Amino acid sequence: MNTYIGIDLGTSSVKLLLTKADGEILAEVSRGYDVSYPRAGWTEQSPRLWWDATSEALAELLDGQCRKSVKGISFGGQMHGLVVLDGNDNVIRPCILWNDGRTEKETEYLNNVIGKEKLSSLTGNIAFAGFTAPKLLWMKENEPENFGRISKIMLPKDYIAYLLSGVHATDLSDASGMLTLDVKNRRWSEEMCKICGVTEKQLPRLYESYEVIGNLKPELCEKFGLSRDVKIIIGAGDNAAAAVGTGTVKNGDCNVSLGTSGTVFIASDSFSVDENNALHSFCHAGGGWHLMGCILSAASCRKWWLEEILGSSDYAASDNASAECKGTGGVYFLPYLTGERSPHNDVNIRGAFFGLSATTTRAQMSRAIMEGVAFAIRDCLEIARLSGVSPTSTKLCGGGAKSTVWRQIMADVLGIPVQILNTEQGPALGATILAAVGCGEYKTVSEGAEKIVKVKETVYPNAESVENYQRKYEIFKQLYPAIKGLKLNGR
Ligand code: XUL
Repeated sequence: MNTYIGIDLGTSSVKLLLTKADGEILAEVSRGYDVSYPRAGWTEQSPRLWWDATSEALAELLDGQCRKSVKGISFGGQMHGLVVLDGNDNVIRPCILWNDGRTEKETEYLNNVIGKEKLSSLTGNIAFAGFTAPKLLWMKENEPENFGRISKIMLPKDYIAYLLSGVHATDLSDASGMLTLDVKNRRWSEEMCKICGVTEKQLPRLYESYEVIGNLKPELCEKFGLSRDVKIIIGAGDNAAAAVGTGTVKNGDCNVSLGTSGTVFIASDSFSVDENNALHSFCHAGGGWHLMGCILSAASCRKWWLEEILGSSDYAASDNASAECKGTGGVYFLPYLTGERSPHNDVNIRGAFFGLSATTTRAQMSRAIMEGVAFAIRDCLEIARLSGVSPTSTKLCGGGAKSTVWRQIMADVLGIPVQILNTEQGPALGATILAAVGCGEYKTVSEGAEKIVKVKETVYPNAESVENYQRKYEIFKQLYPAIKGLKLNGR
């Protein structure tokens, strides 16, 4: 049977998956790398790290496997990162990542001087600090020499696709997060390019996520022992790839991801925007569109709390304690550890615990972390609901979905059943499905996803908890406005 490789180029690691055409997982490998923080609020990564980790992981993935059955390789990748190459295809500077907050000034310029209405009509979106266009403006202003050398602009996974195939390409789902794409019409926006001081020639060629961009380079076929006809399929931004890997492919299907970031992703057959563009309106990897809210810190809040603050990596023990304590004793957590994207669009806001008392326990605070992330996800879902898009259930994926306590909290806070899938692979699995579609194994992305992804368990909301969380959510909603604008200067 033919096999496919999915590469999920994340923020903390790259995950590779080898599957059969029917989705059976044959091998998986992951390799970690670091984020660098050159200044407070800035995040960067060297594309070299991605390549070293990916090529090492690829060699390990294929070890002991039948190499000649591999037909295609595709990708899911952290979105919005700015990768810039010079005329010799050398990387000019480290990639500025999706959760980097340096572009406050440029974001304000785009939203207030160019204007949200114009941006929305050109691209279907407004500017958020993590998006690629404000980063281009930042580079133009702060690193004019580097900016002048740009020959190609690409997104993180596109750089790996380029190294594997020699082709400069991107896909529509990932390109949507650049703010240089006319999302509705699935083409670059000439006017947005002008606003950012770049030309269409500097941008990669656009493909649908399931399209073949070329073959694996001959020298790499040799290096990895793969056959000469291995196809490179461009793949999707990680959330769009996760949507494929969780079967979030039909109009109204919803997926919530609890990874480093947290997202709520709603598939749609038609293009639409919410009233204030608080949600992102992006292309779907299967051909349609989706609405997405993205909170910058989700499972990463729990990691920070357990590992950095409590000095523990015993997630199971923390889960048990949080399950036992049932409530938080009135403690709330705001998960804005690196500022917030949706819906507040505020790079300066920071996280907080509220309602601490002399009797507050560690377990209650641990539980408050999970609830706070759930409430922030609900903030995004409420915007979709207000604009008439009301999912009746949601899939749940990402590291946070492994916690049974968190699953129940999500169901109770969102007030809809949460579906857990037969596979936890999300974006990497989505990438293998896109590869299989590109190689003609399935006619459409939905067909592939529906054959491969199955619901394993449904977690239903508990009526009493839903009511309790409704009351808590009413209070949660008042906390951001109460601390917004507070200047937290000093050491
Ligand atoms: C989505 C977003 C994040 C990153 C994480 O808009 O910025 O989910 O893609 O990798």
